Amino acid sequence: MRTLDTTAGIRAALAPHRRTRSIGLAPTMGALHEGHLSLIRAARAENDLVVVSVFVNPAQFGPGEDLDRYPRDPEQDGRLAAEAGVDLVFAPPVEELYPPGFDTWVEVGELGRRLEGAARPGHFRGVATVCLKLFSIVRPDRAYFGQKDLQQATVVERMVRDLDLELELRVLPTVRDADGLALSSRNVHLSPEERRAALALPRALEAGLAAHRDGGDAAAAARAVLAAERGLAADYVEVARLDGRLVLAAAVRAGRTRLIDNAILEGALR
Ligand code: PAJ
Repeated sequence: MRTLDTTAGIRAALAPHRRTRSIGLAPTMGALHEGHLSLIRAARAENDLVVVSVFVNPAQFGPGEDLDRYPRDPEQDGRLAAEAGVDLVFAPPVEELYPPGFDTWVEVGELGRRLEGAARPGHFRGVATVCLKLFSIVRPDRAYFGQKDLQQATVVERMVRDLDLELELRVLPTVRDADGLALSSRNVHLSPEERRAALALPRALEAGLAAHRDGGDAAAAARAVLAAERGLAADYVEVARLDGRLVLAAAVRAGRTRLIDNAILEGALR
């Protein structure tokens, strides 16, 4: 496994293989966990070469958000990526992707203005722009995303179609800890008490799913579970149509840590 930190470097490493070998890309912000590893394993199974990008993308963080305290662990990321059979890690510094004078952005439409997009204005503009850059640098045949951030995956799927990008997107199911909490790099910030409270989030989604199956109001059922947990503040709990899927999506705060999760009420991952 090689780790490269320049666009020229990763392009040079991939150039000899482009004609003959398929390339899978898993874009990440690092602090890798089993959720990321599930994407990497899927990429490993379906491609000749696997590239993982590790880049904490400042453009997708708003003012006052957690860019500065976002967890970073390059050594462990390198170990986990190597163990998972990654061929190339692309871990550029910020100036490599956003040099002075950088001034071109992907403007995401309506899909990017709801849910996370409403709570974090500009977030999906930053996500779409960095994903387009990574796709253009790596030129993967397939790129791997997680259901954990389903709106993100949907925004990127939409961009791939709208901008005629030549790659296939794969969306993998959310990986959870044994207690139900979706794995997230941000979970390391949770105190034991906050973590206990955070478990109301997957419980609320389960309650929403059950209510929906019985013909009831998924969002109301989920809100009721969250309202009963004093250690959590709900940011939003909503049923939304994301492309073809009907989704119950929620964001909550446990102390200073913001967590998101979702359940698919109708439709499937592609
Ligand atoms: P990050 O939060 O590091 O997540 C990288 C990828 O891993 C995303 O596609 C995310 O949905 C997936 N993922 C995270 N937790 C998961 C879990 N518990 N189960 C399954 N998949 C999971 O999402 C980003 O980074 C960034 O926005 C990025 C796409 C890299 C652009 O900067």
